[in-house]
Amino acid sequence: MALIAFEKVDLSLGGRSILTDIDVSIQKGEFLSVVGPSGCGKTSLLNLAAGLLMPSAGRVTYAGKEVTGPRQDIAIVFQDYGKALLPWRTASGNIALALEAMNYPKDLRETRIAELLDLIGLSEHAEKFPNQLSGGMQQRLQIARCLAQDPAVLLMDEPFGALDAMTRQTLQDEVLAIAARTGATVLFITHDLEEAIYLGDRVIAMRPNPGRFEVSFKIDLPRPRDQLTTRERPEFLKLRRELFDVIKEVEH
Ligand SMILES: Nc1ncnc2c1ncn2[C@@H]1O[C@H](COP(=O)(O)OP(=O)(O)O)[C@@H](O)[C@H]1O
Ligand SMILES: [Mg+2]
Repeated sequence: MALIAFEKVDLSLGGRSILTDIDVSIQKGEFLSVVGPSGCGKTSLLNLAAGLLMPSAGRVTYAGKEVTGPRQDIAIVFQDYGKALLPWRTASGNIALALEAMNYPKDLRETRIAELLDLIGLSEHAEKFPNQLSGGMQQRLQIARCLAQDPAVLLMDEPFGALDAMTRQTLQDEVLAIAARTGATVLFITHDLEEAIYLGDRVIAMRPNPGRFEVSFKIDLPRPRDQLTTRERPEFLKLRRELFDVIKEVEH
């Protein structure tokens, strides 16, 4: 059964059609990548899945029930990590916030925070404030805060867009490892075609004005993925070429 389903969804904002005829089922445990040019409605799509926006027509369901608002088991990683973290709370404090919000047992919080900091490799920076951490570290911290929620679903909106290439690859592999370990379902938005293929079980390319789905590619690359060997495979290169051609076409 689909965990998240969009059924003939239209979205209008301020009298303008933003998304039209969005129809997709995301299976439990699936990693779905969505690519498309800027302004084609990717963030709006994610906000619909998150229950932060409601469709103008059609419906969005979660485990078969209509989505009516945000839920604790769906976590969102925003593009702008700067805005997602509280500057007056330390790394530990930012993770604690998520645990407080879900009423995590007080006496177990410290242990859980330590576990999460270890997972994202920030144990030694527990008492630092966001502005004392590099961009990559802040983004890892945002991811840890989402994981503190122990989410069934991770919605990620161009999460690595602002990071350097090496940090980006490290975090891609961390997200894959986390998804594999927890069985989380992931909706991953990116404008990086290679990233979309590298991570996904499926890649959907969007067309703008109004935003709609253009084409869907199934990604049969073996897992676990590897930054060198996966990207060198002939299927990877073929998919990259096909996706590149689609995006080039929809941008014109
Ligand atoms: N609250 C809003 N009211 C009116 N238009 C909006 C609103 N939010 C986004 N839009 C418009 O919807 C379109 C899609 O935006 P968005 O989902 O952010 O696209 P993307 O993430 O692909 O860049 C853009 O043209 C944007 O200007
Ligand atoms: Mg966006």
